Amino acid sequence: MDSIHIHGGIALQGQVRIQGSKNAALPILAAALLTAERSYIRNCPRIADVHAMVSLLRRLGCHVSWREDGLQVDSAQVSLGSMQGEAVKGMRSSLCLLGALLGRCGEAVLEHPGGCVIGERPIDLHLWALEQMGVVFSEEKGMIRGVAEGLHGARIALPLPSVGATENIILAGVLAEGDTCVTGAAREPEITALCRYLQNCGASIEGIGTDRLRIRGGCRLRGAEYHVPADRIVAGTYLMACIGTGGCVLLKGAPAGEMEAVLKAASQMGASCWVSEEGICIQASGCPKPVERLVTLPYPGFPTDLQSVALAVLAASGGRSIVEERIFENRFRVAGELNRMGACIEQVDAHMVVVHGAGRLCGAEVEAKELRGGAALVIAGLMAQGETKVTGCPYIYRGYENICKDFRELGARIASV
Ligand code: EPZ
Repeated sequence: MDSIHIHGGIALQGQVRIQGSKNAALPILAAALLTAERSYIRNCPRIADVHAMVSLLRRLGCHVSWREDGLQVDSAQVSLGSMQGEAVKGMRSSLCLLGALLGRCGEAVLEHPGGCVIGERPIDLHLWALEQMGVVFSEEKGMIRGVAEGLHGARIALPLPSVGATENIILAGVLAEGDTCVTGAAREPEITALCRYLQNCGASIEGIGTDRLRIRGGCRLRGAEYHVPADRIVAGTYLMACIGTGGCVLLKGAPAGEMEAVLKAASQMGASCWVSEEGICIQASGCPKPVERLVTLPYPGFPTDLQSVALAVLAASGGRSIVEERIFENRFRVAGELNRMGACIEQVDAHMVVVHGAGRLCGAEVEAKELRGGAALVIAGLMAQGETKVTGCPYIYRGYENICKDFRELGARIASV
């Protein structure tokens, strides 16, 4: 199933259920290491990154099994397993295992993690923050080794709101001795989800949802149940698809409260959106409007993870838009592929493009080079006249459970081959 074939130009109609959040599920699975009891994580998406995290937890000695509605993780026995190879290098969230293992075992050995090719993505803040909590790091032959003789709380002022670094501080902080205070913490809803799961386990965390967190250390954690919230990025992807193709779609269970910036952008692009008890409804003409300037920002700003799909839609609008990427450099790799479909996207520098809306895109053979850029190509294919073949689809399956089936349910002609 390396490629996706699309016959474009069909307006989307109907309803689709939004899967559980990838970026919430992954750190929560790592957090399940912090208790010696069994946890049940409901609504876990069945995506490649979650399968990779499951295989890493098993290497660490956990018993992990899929149940009807999620994953059961039993981490009674944890040992320092071999944290290297594709599951680590290919997935940046494996980095969460660093904080969790340091909390549980006082030691962690991990190959330098990778993730999607979207800029440098250094890990200096993770290491610096954990060092303040008493961890000593060494690096040899691409392996990072962290040892904490006495993991302790600290006052940590993050110079930028890194999602992963905030998660690692929380993971290490709940079992450290003494309290940890973080300022400049990331406020993404996925961090709130991690804190809620840990609270269910008995942790004490104050300031959840703000940029100032206080984590009480030394709590004895028990196993817990947790329902992973719906994925705001998948919901935003399908919302953008509907703006591009036109039609009327209900995004069932979409977390509207976490999507204000996305709904605002959708309305600037000419769509009508309203929130119902069931989720978000969207109605669009299929002629998206350009926007003066779309800027990605940390939450609650417009998410960088939806920048590529927005770019695909703006490429088919009837005018000029500016898109500014403020989180990552090198996150415009999809622009070249969209241009092969008739788009006219001009890169100004590593952080900005000018989109000269082409009115319509045409089908082509294009290649996904990372997760969200891949989803953007699928959306471009749904909007385009004629046939599109997207290759490199394993990237897309890292984050989307059933992208082809979901769009087929909305009336699209799309198949994975
Ligand atoms: C998380 O990545 C998400 N991944 C990303 O989603 C998302 O794009 C990103 O947050 C921003 O929202 C997961 O949750 C698994 P960061 P993360 O640390 O934690 C710099 C997707 O498509 N930085 O907040 O890696 C970094 O280079 C993925 O689902 C440092 O300089 O992002 C970037 O410019 C892709 N040093 C900025 O901070 C560090 O030590 C934000 O990165 C860490 C980060």
